[in-house]
Amino acid sequence: MTPQVKKPRFIVYFIGFTAALAGLLFGLDVGVISGASKFIQAEFTIDDNVLGLVVSALLWGAVFGTLLSGLLSNKFGRRKTILISAVIFVVGSILCAIAPSEHLLIVARFLLGIAVGVASFTAPLYLSEISPQRVRGSMISMYQLMITIGIVMAFLSDTYLASYATIGGVTGGHWRWMLGVIAVPAAIMFLGVLFLPESPRWLFLKGFKERAVAVFQRMHLDDAEIAAEVREIEDSLKVKQGGFNLLRTNPNFARAIGLGVGLQVIQQLTGINVLMYYAPRILEMAGFQGTEKEMWGTVLIGVTNVLATFIAIAFVDRLGRKPIMYAGFVTMGLAMAAVGTFFNMDIENNPSLGYPAVAALLLFIVGFAMSAGPIIWVICSEIYPLAGRDLGVTFSTATNWIANAIVGQYFLNVLLLLGNGNTFLLLGAVNAVFIVFFILFVPETKGVSLEKIEANLRAGLPLRKIGR
Ligand code: BGC
Repeated sequence: MTPQVKKPRFIVYFIGFTAALAGLLFGLDVGVISGASKFIQAEFTIDDNVLGLVVSALLWGAVFGTLLSGLLSNKFGRRKTILISAVIFVVGSILCAIAPSEHLLIVARFLLGIAVGVASFTAPLYLSEISPQRVRGSMISMYQLMITIGIVMAFLSDTYLASYATIGGVTGGHWRWMLGVIAVPAAIMFLGVLFLPESPRWLFLKGFKERAVAVFQRMHLDDAEIAAEVREIEDSLKVKQGGFNLLRTNPNFARAIGLGVGLQVIQQLTGINVLMYYAPRILEMAGFQGTEKEMWGTVLIGVTNVLATFIAIAFVDRLGRKPIMYAGFVTMGLAMAAVGTFFNMDIENNPSLGYPAVAALLLFIVGFAMSAGPIIWVICSEIYPLAGRDLGVTFSTATNWIANAIVGQYFLNVLLLLGNGNTFLLLGAVNAVFIVFFILFVPETKGVSLEKIEANLRAGLPLRKIGR
């Protein structure tokens, strides 16, 4: 008799979708500011330094939220922690929308950032813990994709509210609505999460074995599948999470953390979020003046970001991580160099240069979305020894947000200091240099078990060889 292959049940997709909403909110909050900032700057008459603070306050909040989430999700459980973040999302979005001054807007964005940080840590953790093995990969990819979809939805809603919507007799420029409307998906996530079960792995961790089994039954796993999941959880729990201890006693763990931290710094220094946060302004520099043109250009950037993510999803397990990273970084380096060159050619008086400049910007996005965007998160989830995984992921995720904040805050200053063209030439050069880092330090982890990676790391092999 051939074994019956069971299709994952509705509840599994419901869980995946609801938890991935956290990714959507992450994307919405990252994307929303690009379309809003021009109007915020006009209403509060603030200079670029203060605008940099408005942009980066959310990111500093996310750093804080990430550091907090290990504690919260361990003490209260993954589900309650996601619920807490949903409440902060709702409250934070509303506070941003009604902020009477730039100072309170900065405070509200910081608060919202805490929700983004908590969600960016807890939702993928929850997903990886609750997904049955056969759909785990696709559930986690869904989360990544949701971030890019969130960004594009924010760009679209910004475009509508910036140019077309008439509210209270005024057409366009409704930045308060742009920020406030995110409370709606946040409230939907809150309601959805109320129906989600707790993570079985966390229930085990806290000694509630029967409740964990009940969760699997609710997901309609059969007895054999439940037994396999339970065995896997029990095995993994034999390894006590002793992150700080391990860090003190085992230099190999420190090396892995160095790699994860380095990769996340690299991801942010590619310049991706320069585009995510300041796209309309960069498009204006390329000669696309006028809110409407700037906004539609920004939407195009967001759509390209979503579509090119599928390249990574399709090839990451077939071609491997490193070939895709090389291809992506060569593309990004060349594209940024081209953007810089166009900007140095007096683009303001040469409107015909605008289109090739935008084409180069889009090419940069393709390079990022097919490589550094998803794959750096993948590698960071693979390189830490089990006993230090929580701490390792906390370090690398927090680094991502810190580097993100620094870029968000200082990009406009660098632009003033070096000029438009040279800033992008610099980004091109930086992307090219990162290729050397991959050659020297990054392992190929395609098709290698996490146990094998851990054994190689502990045996002291050079980082680039721990994937063999
Ligand atoms: C990065 C974010 C970025 C997003 C763009 C993510 O992988 O961590 O900083 O905004 O990709 O799609």
